[in-house]
Amino acid sequence: MPSDLHSTLLTWYQLHKRKLPWRGEPDPYKILLSEVLLQQTRVEQAIPYYQRFLQQFPTLKDLARADQEAVLKAWQGCGYYARARNLHKLAQRVVAQSKHLPKSSGELRALPGIGPYTAAAVASIAFGEPVAAVDGNVRRVLARFYAWENPTPKQVQDAADTLMAELVYWGGDVNTPDGSLPGDWNQALMELGATICTPQNPSCGSCPVAPFCQGKSHPERYPAAKVRKQKSLEVVALVLQGPDGIHLELRQGRVLGGLWGLPMEEGQGALERLLARFGLDSAEAVGTVRHDFTHRKLYIRVYKAHWEASENPEHRPLSRLDRKILELVKAHQTPLW
Ligand code: ADE
Repeated sequence: MPSDLHSTLLTWYQLHKRKLPWRGEPDPYKILLSEVLLQQTRVEQAIPYYQRFLQQFPTLKDLARADQEAVLKAWQGCGYYARARNLHKLAQRVVAQSKHLPKSSGELRALPGIGPYTAAAVASIAFGEPVAAVDGNVRRVLARFYAWENPTPKQVQDAADTLMAELVYWGGDVNTPDGSLPGDWNQALMELGATICTPQNPSCGSCPVAPFCQGKSHPERYPAAKVRKQKSLEVVALVLQGPDGIHLELRQGRVLGGLWGLPMEEGQGALERLLARFGLDSAEAVGTVRHDFTHRKLYIRVYKAHWEASENPEHRPLSRLDRKILELVKAHQTPLW
């Protein structure tokens, strides 16, 4: 029985897997980059970042030698910038210590920004370690497969571990033309989740493992939707423009730290505090921008004023939010910088 399930899914994966630039890639650094990108970025959006990043930093050593600002510039617009900061730190640590990425998921797990999922994905895909990689796609696939409405993370991990152990046990019977079996197995589950067992309207009619699936009559029930609490936040942003550019400041903090951005304040009296910071009496209202972060809905009121300012925003890594604001201001008035 397990052998049927495993060989059915692996065969489907070999025939139907999408051609992605990191598929079949032997370089563990490139596999790592792809997995770090795919943690929070969809495949279509990740591909151009993957390619541009590797053009600029073709090896771990090149990445280690780069300035953090250049790394963030390459990541600009992709979001979750801690990923780029951590990848940079990881490269510096690995290059200083041992030159090569460690091969085991346990050692990978100890590196900056590498959680259980990424460690398992890289160890299995690049080094063939039989360790289950559970991401959001795999969680959904397994919840449906076993008809679990509210599986705990441990339940899902245990199920994935068991399937991986069975794969190793039955592996001799499974016919894979190439590559690492554990890596293919993990990617087969992810691929199924990304292309067939999708969050909305899954294609159970084309699913290779439907005969084994306990949730196929009501796939939308599994797993039950999480209620996401998104707080609203009102923010004021100030675009200070001078003859040679605008004013940008280096951001601090976990989310956008290391990027540059427009002066912003939140909450009561935000505009007054911003004006006071720059010794201004007033500023001109330009409009409003909406932007969603994972746990925050931002409403940004945008103002502009004249100021001695000289940054060219094209030369700095900026978040998507800051770019949106600058687009709004640009649309309102001809050349700003
Ligand atoms: N999502 C994250 N990593 C993936 C991979 N290697 N293949 C398909 N989807 C993924």
